Amino acid sequence: MDVHNVEMVMSAVSPSQYPTDGRAEFALVGRSNVGKSSLTNTLINRKNFARTSGQPGKTQTLNFYDVEGQLYFVDVPGYGYAKVSKKKRESFGQMIETYISSRKQLRGVISLVDARHKPSEEDIMMYNWLAYYNIPVLLVATKADKIVRGKLNQSESIIKKAVDFDDENSDFQFFSSVTKSGKDEVWQWIEDRL
Ligand code: GTP
Ligand code: MG
Repeated sequence: MDVHNVEMVMSAVSPSQYPTDGRAEFALVGRSNVGKSSLTNTLINRKNFARTSGQPGKTQTLNFYDVEGQLYFVDVPGYGYAKVSKKKRESFGQMIETYISSRKQLRGVISLVDARHKPSEEDIMMYNWLAYYNIPVLLVATKADKIVRGKLNQSESIIKKAVDFDDENSDFQFFSSVTKSGKDEVWQWIEDRL
């Protein structure tokens, strides 16, 4: 999709604040700092539309981005950030769970992991939880620019093995917001589900 118009329409903490026009939605999930906002910006050809930062835990609400009046990207708060209070983490968890488990418009979830590391317990839990709800998942291994080409296959195997990757319900893609590699493939995955 060639994107020209994007608008942040809502910062929601509860279902009553979600958009009501029924358009398809795609959520981005992953631990804090993994690169969700950067992926959003790359997909919509903007430098810093979704706020990115070296400071993890910046995104604290479900942020709905209206893309070309056709679909929404939903930037979700990152999990696993220790400095966010336990209470806040629990309320994030519940907000995300409510959204993902009950949202009819949700056509797929882009689940981000860091290509350089073995997925964390929380990454694994998230992936399996999405599978439990039968939600189509694109598992994106981001920051792929930090890995030498010769190690990509190995990284893919480690990640897939750790999450017990299910080919039937999910796809895998390397991505880099620095080189933009994987951008077309991620868009294709989204468009296939519109
Ligand atoms: P929260 O909103 O805190 O959950 O973080 P986030 O997942 O939205 O991460 P964000 O996009 O803000 O990126 C975090 C940091 O990682 C920033 O410093 C980005 O510049 C960097 N980063 C994101 N994607 C990439 C990538 O593909 N390659 C490299 N080298 N750095 C990246
Ligand atoms: Mg973010």
